[in-house]
Amino acid sequence: MQHRLGPALPWSEITPQRLYLARREFLAGVGATAFATLASGTALGAALTAKPGPFRADDKPTAKEAVTTYNNFYEFGVEKDEPAKNAGTLRTSPWSVVVEGACERPGSYALDDLIKPASLEERLYRHRCVEGWSMVIPWIGVPLASVLQAAGPTPGAKYVAFETLYDTAQMPGQTRRVLEWPYREGLRIDEAMHPLTLLAVGLYGETLPNQNGAPLRLVVPWKYGFKGIKSIVRIKLQDSQPRTAWNVSAPNEYGFYSNVNPDVDHPRWSQKTERRIGEFRRRDTLPFNGYGEQVAELYAGMDLRKFF
Ligand code: MTE
Repeated sequence: MQHRLGPALPWSEITPQRLYLARREFLAGVGATAFATLASGTALGAALTAKPGPFRADDKPTAKEAVTTYNNFYEFGVEKDEPAKNAGTLRTSPWSVVVEGACERPGSYALDDLIKPASLEERLYRHRCVEGWSMVIPWIGVPLASVLQAAGPTPGAKYVAFETLYDTAQMPGQTRRVLEWPYREGLRIDEAMHPLTLLAVGLYGETLPNQNGAPLRLVVPWKYGFKGIKSIVRIKLQDSQPRTAWNVSAPNEYGFYSNVNPDVDHPRWSQKTERRIGEFRRRDTLPFNGYGEQVAELYAGMDLRKFF
């Protein structure tokens, strides 16, 4: 059964007229069944309208071409160019997300009911991959806190666990045992509720391309990019620290916290500098990826070498 967290506009309401008409023409050709499916899901390829949000990085956005062709999404291959080439097999509409665990309103929510288009914000965030490259991306989404608040967390909600879709037909990379599938990630509840933490549905003014984690992915700008789990189907509030895909695969290399930290090297390479995609000279990596003023207090008193 699909639950509603509150009133939500269908995606068509925020689709500019031109795209909406083009979509109607397309739909006229594919028949009524397909219309029902598409109408209840995300308007793929449609432009999104979003108000500028807070926390706009002062940096120049990375070229969209790079943002959408240089990706990590192992479900579609382990090379950077493979997700853009292979992610066409992912069906993002209709899409629903199970919200469960320690909350008052658990259920399976249609994407349109979970994310209210009227509340979409654009946020320009720095994005730092643990491998040592970085980008600046104009995301569109809503604070994760708004979705969690709507679900009504109960006192047992100390952490939030996330899961990607598991479907080897749509995600052929899941037949290879490079990671434990489905991809999993997690946050402590205060990290999840922090206003910087975003559930993204778009970038560069459009719905997310599949390779960037359509139709719904996490963005936590002060953490390494692997915390940004893609194509989310399950969000669970729980009292224990969640298992996470990279921590399970190499616990000495990838911790649960994964805060960007130039002072804690990865065992096989330094984290002191990074290469911004599109630039030549390496830059210094900033603690918490430059978001320390907003988030450092979450970790007051913690030894961040131990909790890396
Ligand atoms: N989510 C899933 N499901 N599978 C993945 O392989 N890779 C992670 C993260 N989310 C990954 C994932 C890593 S390592 C990074 S750096 C970011 O996605 C990359 O996001 P981007 O391609 O939008 O830059």
